Amino acid sequence: MNQVYKKLLNCYNQVKNRTSFVPKIALVLGSGLGAFGDRIDVKEIIEYSSIEGFPVSTVSGHNGRFLFGYVENVPVVVMQGRIHYYEGYCMTDVVLPIRLMCMLGAEKIILTNAAGGINKTFVPGTLMALTDHITSFVPSPLIGQNIDELGVRFPDMSCVYDKKLREILNKTANKLDIPLREGVYIQFTGPAYETPAEINMARTLGADAVGMSTAVEAMVARHMGVEVCAVSCISNMAAGLNTKPLTHEEVKETADMVSEQFQKLIYNTIINIGKDFTI
Ligand code: HPA
Repeated sequence: MNQVYKKLLNCYNQVKNRTSFVPKIALVLGSGLGAFGDRIDVKEIIEYSSIEGFPVSTVSGHNGRFLFGYVENVPVVVMQGRIHYYEGYCMTDVVLPIRLMCMLGAEKIILTNAAGGINKTFVPGTLMALTDHITSFVPSPLIGQNIDELGVRFPDMSCVYDKKLREILNKTANKLDIPLREGVYIQFTGPAYETPAEINMARTLGADAVGMSTAVEAMVARHMGVEVCAVSCISNMAAGLNTKPLTHEEVKETADMVSEQFQKLIYNTIINIGKDFTI
């Protein structure tokens, strides 16, 4: 059997043996959204480190666990802490948790992150709905023998971020009076922040925000036919747009500052998505 699929199945079986919870929506919490767990009616918690073979995050401030529970009546699985490529895992390990949540039943996934603003009109604290992404600078998680059980060899990526979900997200933001911009996300490997020249290149290529996650996660979810919605919290102006050097502390500080608004937006979006389909 395909080794990547074998590893995934092994993790999936361990989770299935411990919970019968079937989520409808998966959610990945980025920087600043960690506290979102407090808003969920949590039924079960599974620590990543308790799943044999599961990649465990090494970044400070990223707890590593799955929460299973409800946002009102919507069954969700939440990743509190994600795995990044720069930690040294191969790309198939990085996306394993995403595939696992989709295999558990999630039909839709909401991805969140902190990102650098390339678009000069994005000030720190801006929330941006992803309209598209550029993954060309990171290895594809779909490289290698195709896992036919999950999806096709050559999946379409012409509409990664679901139009309907984006509409619900926008309407929710409007109703809550939360400003929400739209834009293209570019993923680089990190862990170093980009150089000003790289940011200029990314802008020329059409990117509005830059980060080190999310796009590859969206790709594997689409490969499995799962609908994707993603929101970036612009935590800093990208390299060269500010005189200050970039620090992880600045990223965390801004993310924490807008955390309340961000949480409200995601919480209500989940409820509104839930209303839109029969659970
Ligand atoms: N670059 C890459 N990733 C990031 C940034 C950035 O400026 N800010 C938050 N994540």
